[in-house]
Amino acid sequence: MALDLKLDGKVAIITGGCMGLGGEAAKQLAEQGAKLALVSIPDDALEAKAKDLRETFGAEVLAIGADLTDPDTPNRIAANVIKEFGRIDILINSAGASQGGIFWDIPDEVWDESFALKFMGTIRMMRAVLPSMRKNGYGRIVTVVGDTGKQPRARLLPGAAANAALLVVIKGLSDEVAIDGIAINAVNPGPTRTERIATLFANLSESTGRTLEDIESDFTDDAPMKTMGDPEDVARMIVLLASDVTYNMTGTSITTDGGRSHALPPPPPDLLRPTYEIG
Ligand SMILES: NC(=O)c1ccc[n+]([C@@H]2O[C@H](COP(=O)([O-])OP(=O)(O)OC[C@H]3O[C@@H](n4cnc5c(N)ncnc54)[C@H](OP(=O)(O)O)[C@@H]3O)[C@@H](O)[C@H]2O)c1
Repeated sequence: MALDLKLDGKVAIITGGCMGLGGEAAKQLAEQGAKLALVSIPDDALEAKAKDLRETFGAEVLAIGADLTDPDTPNRIAANVIKEFGRIDILINSAGASQGGIFWDIPDEVWDESFALKFMGTIRMMRAVLPSMRKNGYGRIVTVVGDTGKQPRARLLPGAAANAALLVVIKGLSDEVAIDGIAINAVNPGPTRTERIATLFANLSESTGRTLEDIESDFTDDAPMKTMGDPEDVARMIVLLASDVTYNMTGTSITTDGGRSHALPPPPPDLLRPTYEIG
């Protein structure tokens, strides 16, 4: 029997829905019959993406050009979507762009920007959609976080810190709203071939003087599978968590990083080398 995701007619907002992981999730949701509101920096690419989804899948698509670092934007987006589609069933948070680098070279602005977009943008979007979801007794929120939230990388600390903070909020908030029929989860990709990662690798190559091939190896060598992720695969996890197939999951995350993250945190050194006698 084919897997029925029951997404036909559901109303989904996708931040960063123009390209990368959000763009791929938008495509798969449109294919499943969902009505979409794509949020991205206003430009021709956003309109082109909306047009493509309308023509390819016959989907109802609202293109909302907006900067998510503006604190007033999320409430306007939610109001706009409710006016157009009558309700909000799903929120996918995929807008995010944190810069990396060597810790002592990273200025305050980079830390501020990482938190302004990825952390506060997500917090404000969740706050904006929750009243509608609570009223309807239904909601699915999926945030694209990143494996660095659990296992940081030295050269990606601003994004890793925002990711770790988001995982904490996702768990705590999911406890609060489970009673209202709302599930909140995350997908934690490892390095995945999107436009963002290409720019990141190019910046790291420039700042360290290493080749692009060496930088890619730096990111994949510590994973047992030694693979880069594919946006289509990551989007499938996003769509699964946005569906009712995962109705019994909340406050948790799916990690797609070729096995890099530890299943459990490693034990503290004292437990590995006991310094006392037992019994
Ligand atoms: N790719 C990876 O390897 C990877 C790994 C772990 C986690 N992640 C996370 O996954 C998320 C998506 O990453 P991605 O690789 O798909 O990135 P991407 O290809 O750069 O796409 C990011 C999207 O966010 C939008 N965006 C950026 N700044 C915005 C703003 N201020 N307001 C509204 N929209 C904005 C972009 O719009 P424009 O096109 O208009 O700029 C774009 O549509 C990010 O949060 C990232 O941290 C990615």
